[in-house]
Amino acid sequence: MKILLLGSGGREHALAWKIAQSPKIEKLYIAPGNAGTREVGKNVNIKADDFQSIKELVIGKGINMVVVGPEDPLVKGVYDFFRDDEELKNIPVIGPSKAGAVLEGSKEFAKEFMMRHNIPTAGYKSITAENLQEGLDFLASLEAPYVLKADGLCAGKGVLILPTLEEAQKELKEMLGGMFGNASATVVIEEFLSGIECSVFVLTDGKNYKILPEAKDYKRIGEGDTGLNTGGMGSISPVPFANAEWMKKVEDRIIRPTVEGLAEEGIDYKGFIFFGLINVKGEPMVIEYNVRMGDPETESVMLRIKSDLVDLLEGVAEGNLNEKAIEFDSRAAVCVMLVSGGYPEAYEKGFPMSGIEEAKAGGSIVFHAGTAIKDEQVVTAGGRVIAVSSYGANKAEALAKSFENASKIKFEKKYFRSDIGFDL
Ligand code: AMP
Ligand code: GLY
Repeated sequence: MKILLLGSGGREHALAWKIAQSPKIEKLYIAPGNAGTREVGKNVNIKADDFQSIKELVIGKGINMVVVGPEDPLVKGVYDFFRDDEELKNIPVIGPSKAGAVLEGSKEFAKEFMMRHNIPTAGYKSITAENLQEGLDFLASLEAPYVLKADGLCAGKGVLILPTLEEAQKELKEMLGGMFGNASATVVIEEFLSGIECSVFVLTDGKNYKILPEAKDYKRIGEGDTGLNTGGMGSISPVPFANAEWMKKVEDRIIRPTVEGLAEEGIDYKGFIFFGLINVKGEPMVIEYNVRMGDPETESVMLRIKSDLVDLLEGVAEGNLNEKAIEFDSRAAVCVMLVSGGYPEAYEKGFPMSGIEEAKAGGSIVFHAGTAIKDEQVVTAGGRVIAVSSYGANKAEALAKSFENASKIKFEKKYFRSDIGFDL
């Protein structure tokens, strides 16, 4: 089987690493990939949203399946592009249709979907310039802190959590006034939920689903979860409070109603669903949906899937996921992300990197996130640069290994959080 994976981050390197281990894989292409994915497949210099070039590649190379890493091509309709094309319609795309991707592409749609299907989530109101006063009044009826979410995609920056009513009301006006362009023309105001977050992932063929290992990610730049939000500074799996009892609540109240709700609404969805959950006094509630795997969660979750991922993806494509088994690795897996100094604000790129082989020899699995090759040398090429993932008999052992190997990788202005997993 020949697979094309779309994307270029740490998530894609982890997916590529897992796919490449399958006995079913004949050839793996990654478009565009990064300096790490070329170790496990063939990088092709095509952007993940350049559908015409993707079509030519798929036909030219006889590719049998397309796996989509990031949300952007999904929101732009890569699934529909294949489904509606005479030459491509029999080639499965792992990822939802454009209609399904709206679960991530519009916070308002996601909230309305959850309301329709009785899925537990924070109370909310959806506001535009037309009903601003309603928004200001709704904020006044809530207790601090206040949660404002731009409806559309903002590269992870569209959620503001404000400590005072005054600031919340001011920011609401600014968001509606174009703070995030068109993405914040509608703003979802939510009740603040207090608890520990957990990312739960499923693979679905639209009817059946398999729950993947859960993970927790660490979003803030600073230790002790302080400072600005980032794409994610590390992850751990399993999450201790996500025990069988809690996961049963998640499955009964959230996963099954979501998969059934999508089917009932006639939404084509064959791919990953990422449930961003929060544990509120023992009860799981949904913070957000994403229509792809998490990053950096994938860099620990893939380590914990023992089964052949390609076999599971075939189940998704063929609609017989119920006939497949998924087995987890019982060990703990963690990921520590090394980032460029300055990130998530301005940072420099192009610094030569060393020590990657030493980190691997030390027993970690190293996933590239933002790297490039310049004159045959690996250099930094992004904010999140490289993920150091490790197994351990428990979380502490896995973390010790990742921290030790993280210190072997060297590049100018390297930074990482040395407290991943601190709260669990
Ligand atoms: P989102 O993009 O919806 O995942 O929101 C980004 C982050 O904001 C989440 O990971 C949470 O940490 C936080 N957040 C979002 N919604 C809420 C909420 N209703 N209550 C508390 N925290 C929230
Ligand atoms: N780790 C959170 C995300 O991928 O959105």
